[in-house]
Amino acid sequence: MTSPYQHKAHDGINQDVVWHTGSITHQERAALKRQVPVVLWFTGLSGSGKSTIANAVEQKLLALGKHSYLLDGDNIRHGLNKDLGFTQADRIENIRRIGEVASLFVDAGSIVLTAFISPFISDREQVRQRLEPHQFIEVFVDTPLAVCESRDPKGLYKKARAGEIKHFTGIDSDYESPTQPEIHLKTDIDSIEACAEKVVNYLAARGYLGL
Ligand code: ADX
Repeated sequence: MTSPYQHKAHDGINQDVVWHTGSITHQERAALKRQVPVVLWFTGLSGSGKSTIANAVEQKLLALGKHSYLLDGDNIRHGLNKDLGFTQADRIENIRRIGEVASLFVDAGSIVLTAFISPFISDREQVRQRLEPHQFIEVFVDTPLAVCESRDPKGLYKKARAGEIKHFTGIDSDYESPTQPEIHLKTDIDSIEACAEKVVNYLAARGYLGL
């Protein structure tokens, strides 16, 4: 049985590199965890609440005995992607790599949460295409720029407005909102708790947590 990771592997790889199929299937790993592996792809402006909500979702999943893993923008940029900045090309590569890692975690049986601004529709769509349709859930953390800027937890909007940071999303770099996200959260209206509950309810209602 092919794994989701192999099934959607990119074209253009070296012909001398041959896929090695393991003897444990991704279905067997998922069954062991009694859950349907999936990527919850959080997208939204800096300060919109992606990481905070993703953390709250993870807490709820843990309480339900479900195995999750959070890939967080700021943290991944300290390690795997520390060679990348915020030009358009670097952001594209950032999201491509995260898509690959998320796909591996799905293969391993996890419920993966990603919290990256991921400002471009085409990059998010490429990750979606990398997975099976039911394995990618786009979660739009829809917080108005003015609200994110007033929160400014890291003081970055202030720096961006002062011209000390270039290419800052929402200021001098675009954010392309999802047009049809599976889950649409409004943190200026709903609490973190309510947003997290909405995500977990979505998973529960569609059988992701019920194996
Ligand atoms: S993404 O656009 O490539 O998806 P990512 O989520 O990895 O961005 O990183 C965003 C975080 O990096 C922000 O929350 C912020 O803390 C920090 N950051 C530093 N410089 C910038 C910038 N120019 N634009 C956006 N975020 C930045």
